[in-house]
Amino acid sequence: MTEFPPGWRLGVVQEVAPPGVADLGPGYPGPDLHPVGLVRYAYARALDEFGSAALAYGDNAGALPLREVLARRARLADPGGVVVTAGTSQALHLLGTTLAAPGQTVVTDRLGYDYGRAILTSCGLRLAHVPADADGMDPGALDDALAASDTAFVYLNPTFHNPTGQVVPERRRRELLEVTVRRGVLVVEDDAYAELGLTSAATPPALAELDPDGVIRLGTFSKTIGPGLRLGWLTAAPAVASRLLRHGLFHSGGSLNHLASLAVAVMITSGEYDQHLDWLRGRLRSRRDALLGALGDLDVTTPDGGFFLWLRFGAGQSEDDLMAAAAAAGVRVAAGSRFGAARSPRIRLSYSLNRPAELASAGRALRTAWARSGALPERISS
Ligand SMILES: Cc1ncc(COP(=O)(O)O)c(C=O)c1O
Repeated sequence: MTEFPPGWRLGVVQEVAPPGVADLGPGYPGPDLHPVGLVRYAYARALDEFGSAALAYGDNAGALPLREVLARRARLADPGGVVVTAGTSQALHLLGTTLAAPGQTVVTDRLGYDYGRAILTSCGLRLAHVPADADGMDPGALDDALAASDTAFVYLNPTFHNPTGQVVPERRRRELLEVTVRRGVLVVEDDAYAELGLTSAATPPALAELDPDGVIRLGTFSKTIGPGLRLGWLTAAPAVASRLLRHGLFHSGGSLNHLASLAVAVMITSGEYDQHLDWLRGRLRSRRDALLGALGDLDVTTPDGGFFLWLRFGAGQSEDDLMAAAAAAGVRVAAGSRFGAARSPRIRLSYSLNRPAELASAGRALRTAWARSGALPERISS
């Protein structure tokens, strides 16, 4: 069962699983992964260093100390193309209202981040879904989709994809960019999990590194420090960044999250953020391995990063039955159909919220429940 400290209660946080339920549904860090002490200290130092300037309207593009360190981390020559956001959700809304007109299309993967899609459709945009293979979106099908629609931009999540954990290899990244450059269409790269690689293998270059003029890259501190910060950033060609900054919201309110930006800039500059990332990756690795170990020989991905396992079931199985069996076993999981899985059942399990022992027991409970309900293939139902 998922253990929440006392402050985690409805009316304070967005969601809390009922008592007795192991929650493998949501994609956010567990309570014990938030660096409360570091954040407290960083806010105090930001207030010491910047005084009342930390409580003023911030620079429209975001406080320079944060944009400078983010530009360096993204290997950009200067911070001109960095804009501080209130997280990726707000950035998607900004892009969906600034770079697109209602009725236009966003071309995206068939499987993808459900709430991201909801933001884009809330902006009045249509979604066109493009099939993928083991390496990611099919470039030929992307080309066809771009030819067939009035596309505002292409929305991709190529590194530690939500929900599949997939990483698009460099060759496929280049093939996809060849198509978008030829068609003159912008790409939005949602890189929410980029800093959460769990192996020593280097991740491929970001799409934005391969095509800085044609790609807007979205980063967030939600997955590494905590979503309560509501702090993220985007990088874009300076001309695109200027276009975004013409939005009245920046003129009226200045930086979207000024004090948090200064606190996080302090954390990054002091080296504490990178130390925290190392610690966090170690914790996530143990969680991933505990859950994988308990699931045994289920057909499940082993992600190299991010928060999610992606379980595949045969076409003869029913998603409703799998969900019902999980619920009866006291485990909350996320139905694959939420993310666009249509042909055969898929389930997403998150290992970010719970500790390894909780994950191991939830994984065993799931395996037993699915075996009992006959939902597993023959080879693993014994
Ligand atoms: C791919 C992806 N993008 C964005 C987000 C949300 O980011 P933020 O909290 O910065 O709005 C999530 C969270 O689940 C996600 O999985």
